[in-house]
This record gives sequence, structure tokens and C-alpha cells, in this order.
Amino acid sequence: MPIEILSTHKIHKSAEEAMPKYFTVHRLPDGKERAAFLKEVGPRIRGATGWGIDKGLIDALPALEIYANAGVGYDGVDIPACKERGIKVTNTPDVLNDAMAEITLGLMIALSRKIVAADRYVRDGRWKKDGNYSHTTELTGRTVGILGLGRIGKEIAARCAAMKMRVVYHGRSEQSHQPYVYYKSLIEMAKDVDVLVVVAPGGAETRGIVSRDVIAALGRDGMLVNVARGTLVDEAALVEALVSGKLGGAALDVFEDEPKVPEALFKLDNVVLSPHQGSATIKTRDAMGDLVVANLRAHFDGKPLLTPVA
Ligand code: 8YV
Repeated sequence: MPIEILSTHKIHKSAEEAMPKYFTVHRLPDGKERAAFLKEVGPRIRGATGWGIDKGLIDALPALEIYANAGVGYDGVDIPACKERGIKVTNTPDVLNDAMAEITLGLMIALSRKIVAADRYVRDGRWKKDGNYSHTTELTGRTVGILGLGRIGKEIAARCAAMKMRVVYHGRSEQSHQPYVYYKSLIEMAKDVDVLVVVAPGGAETRGIVSRDVIAALGRDGMLVNVARGTLVDEAALVEALVSGKLGGAALDVFEDEPKVPEALFKLDNVVLSPHQGSATIKTRDAMGDLVVANLRAHFDGKPLLTPVA
């Protein structure tokens, strides 16, 4: 009997190509067709993959044994519901650390050196017309505060240190053997840093932790770089602070309700916008897809999971 897998979303190419070699793969239909599909095929589904799964869908899959989340962040997976049913959950850690760190540094430099706005200045013919572009802020010697010194955070920290920046961090607890100063309070850290990098996991625990007060503490010269999840930041407060000049600038790869981006940000030169592409390199997405398939295969071969989360 072939093992039947449900793909809740279109995922990485490497996984989409490999999965049919080992499993019978179904794509979850949208709209009206979904209920009929789940009634007919749902009871046969033993594994699933995608960007997340809620309790309603879990309940419609009574034979589900494993959910292989296709990203490192599994805030879209209802972990308590999976635990209750004994459904295993895996994610894709580590393979994306470098790509994530790369984009973070890229966004940070683009923001402080106004690379995107300056590019526009050239394209609009303003260099010729209005003269040289205004001077920008250098990162060398500045302090960066990392919110979430996990596996990706550490790669970002190392790259910032290589750029002669001072690195400090905030997280749930101080980590021994880290060369960086720890702040117990996020707001105190925000007061002291030039750049705040948000790279902590999403989910209920971190919702809104970059609050209106934290944004105010960063101040009119402060910069915010978010590569984690839009949910960590009070987006309305962020937009307000950027529009009114109370925050120096922001580089954002993630948003509260993707792909919706607050339009008020479109006309601001102190904002760099990126369509959630932190891990989106060919190499990294292939590696993430391979890990999804490797976890599914390990489970159905009765072997230990490569990267279990719960
Ligand atoms: C992508 C991510 O969002 O891994 C994560 O948690 O946020 C990203 O890599 C994900 O793979 C879906 O595109």
C-alpha cells in the first residue's frame, strides 16, 4: 500500500520533485472542493507537509502520523493539537542559517547606507539634475542588538562582529560562553543600540514583543531589521513611528499579514522592503526541501527523525 501524503501548500522544488518517488502525494484543494476531498482522501493521509496546519485540518486527518514543516519557524503548526494526537512534527533548522544571516546583513547595510533609495536617485536622473546624494550612516563601530541569539542569530552576530560592530543580545535567558553582552530587558537593550535585529521565533510567546515602547526606545536614529515574523512587531506602531520620524528606519523581510504590506511604507526612503525571502536562495531552499523529504522517509522507514521539534 503506497503511503499517502498531503501537501498543505506548494513547497520547495526539491521536495515537490522527490516526494512522488516515495509517496502518493495529494495537494490540498482550496474552497468548495476541500470538504469533499478531505472526506474521501483525509482518512488515508499518514503524512503531511507545508507551512503549517491548524486543528481543523488535523481533525480531518485521523491517520496523520507526521507533519514535516517546510520551514524552520513552525508557528503555523498547532503544536498542542499535534501533541494531543501524538503526531510528530519536524522543521528545517540549520540549513538556512547562512542564507538568513546574509539577507539580514544585506538589509542592514541597504538601510543604513540607503542603497535602495540611492539606486532610485540614479535611475530617476536626479544625480545629474540635483548633484550628489546625501550622506548616510556607517555601521562600523555601531551597536547591534540581536533579539533571539539562536542558531541564525549567532550567524548574524558573527557577521556583524566581522563588520566591526559591537554585538549585544536579548532572549529568554543569558547564554554562557557567548562573547556578547546580554540584556535581560528588551527595552533597555533598545535604548542602547543603533540597530535592533529581530530574529526570534514567532508564535504566541513573542507576539508584539517589539512594542510601541521598544520602538520608541530605539528612537529617531534607531534602525529596526526584522527577518523573523511580522507578528513580533507592533506593525501599526512601527508604521506610525516611521511616518512621523520617531524611528530612524526599518528594513523588513516579514509582515503581519503577508503578502500585505502597509502602503504608508511605500513612499518612505528610510524603509527597505523585502518579500519574505530570508531563506529563499536556490541552494538553501533545495536543502530545506531535502530535509522535509528525509524526515518523512525516516519516519515511514522506522528510523529516527532528523530534525524533530515536538
Ligand atoms: C520561509 C521561513 O518562510 O523557515 C522559515 O521559518 O520563514 C522561511 O524560510 C518558509 O520556508 C516558507 O517560504
